[in-house]
Amino acid sequence: MCYAPAVLTAAHPPPASNVIELRGLPSHVGIIMDGNGRWAQQRGLDRSEGHRAGSAAVRRVVRAARRLGLRALTVYAFSEQNWARPELEVGALMDLLKEFLLAERSEILHNGIRLQAIGNLGRLPAFVRAVLDPLRNESANNEAMTLTLALSYGGREEIALAARELADDVKKGRISADQITTESLRARMPSLAVGDPDLVIRTGGEQRISNFLLYGLAYAELAFSEKLWPDFDAPDLYAAIGSYQQRERRFGKTGAQVRAPTQVTP
Ligand code: FPP
Repeated sequence: MCYAPAVLTAAHPPPASNVIELRGLPSHVGIIMDGNGRWAQQRGLDRSEGHRAGSAAVRRVVRAARRLGLRALTVYAFSEQNWARPELEVGALMDLLKEFLLAERSEILHNGIRLQAIGNLGRLPAFVRAVLDPLRNESANNEAMTLTLALSYGGREEIALAARELADDVKKGRISADQITTESLRARMPSLAVGDPDLVIRTGGEQRISNFLLYGLAYAELAFSEKLWPDFDAPDLYAAIGSYQQRERRFGKTGAQVRAPTQVTP
């Protein structure tokens, strides 16, 4: 069995190519898009220009994911903690988000993409909601791929909200406390409506999770790319998926168990 390195470093480069095995694709891929600021700084540009280039990368990667036939792609566009960034940067990100939604509207609709958003959407400015909400509604019945934008999103916040809702159900007598299970918690998490993430990619060279999809990450495979997000493109997505395809997912079982042929009871 060949195991690809979890870290896609220059020392262990994955086979960067435009060829990918279509069997064993991850169903749900999450991406932590990091490195926009550094990309801009390296070019002597304002950080907002890095986010603009990052927005173009989102467009390319969504197209590639759709062409591959991924069922779900979740991108971490703005965390609950990102509100603490300088006002100008937050404003630029919100403007870009609106621009992205307007520019991608027809491609999303014509390609059967369902657009969803997760996070504390009530904090988003009205001008973003005015383009986001209609597109969510218009694309709600599309089935080719679900694109989820994590906006004002935090994994801990999502878990806390689910716990509060279940506590409220107990208080109102709708369920008893012992009916709170891993599954009932999961059912309250919008980020997992498309299933647990199978693969989470982080760009920009850092190796951390930064409050992304925490509950669903339990058995996700992780791939870290040195590339700054604006430089990330379809071949990098294929490389991360190629690495995923070479791993053995065991979900707590032994290797022998997951490799054993299914037992058929006569
Ligand atoms: C992290 O890079 C990136 C963000 C906080 C924002 C991500 C936003 C985009 C990719 C563009 C807008 C999104 C959409 C969906 C249109 P960083 O700024 O922390 O980079 P750094 O670590 O190099 O400073």
